[in-house]
Amino acid sequence: MYNAKYIAPGILIFLALFTLPFWYNFGAPKYERPALALPVTKTDCIEPRDVMAATHMQLLDTWRDMALRQGKRVYVSSGDKEWTISLQNTCMTCHVNKAEFCDKCHNSNSVSPYCWDCHVEPRGNK
Ligand code: HEC
Ligand code: HEC
Ligand code: HEC
Repeated sequence: MYNAKYIAPGILIFLALFTLPFWYNFGAPKYERPALALPVTKTDCIEPRDVMAATHMQLLDTWRDMALRQGKRVYVSSGDKEWTISLQNTCMTCHVNKAEFCDKCHNSNSVSPYCWDCHVEPRGNK
């Protein structure tokens, strides 16, 4: 039998539960990007900033393969500039403050690249 007494509250309870994840997020803190130490001298990165932020891991992998598998030590960027392929001597001579740049962003994203087991960290750190 049709029982109106229970239907309306039932729908209300269903709606409340169904939208709970939405309410739960209401006013929750957003991810905040940490302030990073960029190179002090005015230069450009190898690729535009947003490209670097999103794909520097792939770029480093490409660099390693170019250097070690194909014996190529020069990378030509999308802006047609030539860069020496070297994590230590190219990336880290601009980004000397590894702790306040690479590490800070990685920590806030819970990533910890193992590269420094072998590659030398810039000395400016210590
Ligand atoms: C087990 C040790 C080891 C680890 C770990 C390691 N590498 Fe290397 N990598 C080397 C060696 C050895 C070379 C060869 C150096 C050369 O011939 O110039 C090299 C070369 C490279 C090169 C090209 C040349 C240069 O001097 O930069 C890149 C780029 C590179 N590695 C990136 C990385 C990245 C990125 C990571 C972390 C994800 C990493 N490597 C982790 C040992 C290591
Ligand atoms: C010639 C100096 C220079 C070199 C070499 C360089 N960078 Fe950069 N990098 C910069 C500058 C300057 C910026 C900020 C760019 C801007 O503001 O447009 C930057 C930005 C970045 C960003 C984005 C940061 C953010 O706030 O989003 C990442 C990631 C990065 N670089 C990683 C690397 C890696 C990895 C390498 C080596 C493959 C490298 N950079 C080589 C100067 C350099
Ligand atoms: C603006 C934030 C940011 C900055 C600055 C940054 N990284 Fe990263 N990096 C990331 C994120 C996020 C990931 C993980 C990406 C993923 O897992 O897809 C990552 C991943 C990597 C990886 C691959 C690690 C792995 O285990 O696969 C390497 C290598 C790396 N970063 C090197 C560097 C170096 C070197 C610098 C400094 C020159 C740097 N990054 C600066 C955000 C950053």
